[in-house]
Amino acid sequence: MKFFVDTAELKDIQDLAATGLLDGVTTNPSLIAKSGKNFIELIKEICKVVPGPVSAEVASTDYESMLKEGQYLATLAKNVTVKVPLTPAGLKVCKELSGKGTMVNVTLCFSPAQALLAAKAGATFVSPFVGRLDDIGQDGMGLIKEICEMYQAQPHLKTQVLVASVRHPRHVIDAAKMGAHVATCPPAIIHQLFNHPLTDKGLAQFVADWAKTGQKILAA
Ligand code: G3P
Repeated sequence: MKFFVDTAELKDIQDLAATGLLDGVTTNPSLIAKSGKNFIELIKEICKVVPGPVSAEVASTDYESMLKEGQYLATLAKNVTVKVPLTPAGLKVCKELSGKGTMVNVTLCFSPAQALLAAKAGATFVSPFVGRLDDIGQDGMGLIKEICEMYQAQPHLKTQVLVASVRHPRHVIDAAKMGAHVATCPPAIIHQLFNHPLTDKGLAQFVADWAKTGQKILAA
């Protein structure tokens, strides 16, 4: 499973890229607004730090404007993935851009039917929002299961399931077990994936016991 980070904070992206475990980045207009940065400059910077797909979302909602914005965003770097909303116009833009070889991430997916349409429109990624479904008392991971099963039953569909709106590590683990291709997580959740209190406790014990030996592995 690939790990993307869902943020527009360059420092967080640089730190996670240094782990060697980061495969891509997703942004959205809300994250850009929160960062206070210039969108275009920021996307160019992120694309230099992370060689994998970097999602940059169109701002318009009508077909012509979204298409022009998407075509422009795709010129910023070869790893830009144009993000479009799951609307009829967004899917039309998806089909057009995908047909020309641009990677497209179809966002704001909340149903298996929408995911089927995104795949038929040639999306590289579809982004079902699990946390926002959980927030309204629906089953976010149930949606991932259904989409994964549907895509597996239709092997000609090449769209990757990009699990978004991730709230905790359990979402990531369950998505991996279901066969989802990507999880995009806020930086704090990626850090949580590394952590376990018994790892910290065990390491402290090993360090203390090693000191008792008085040995060094490498000569000074
Ligand atoms: O970037 C799309 C998605 O991950 C947003 O998540 O936390 O705003 O529901 P959230």
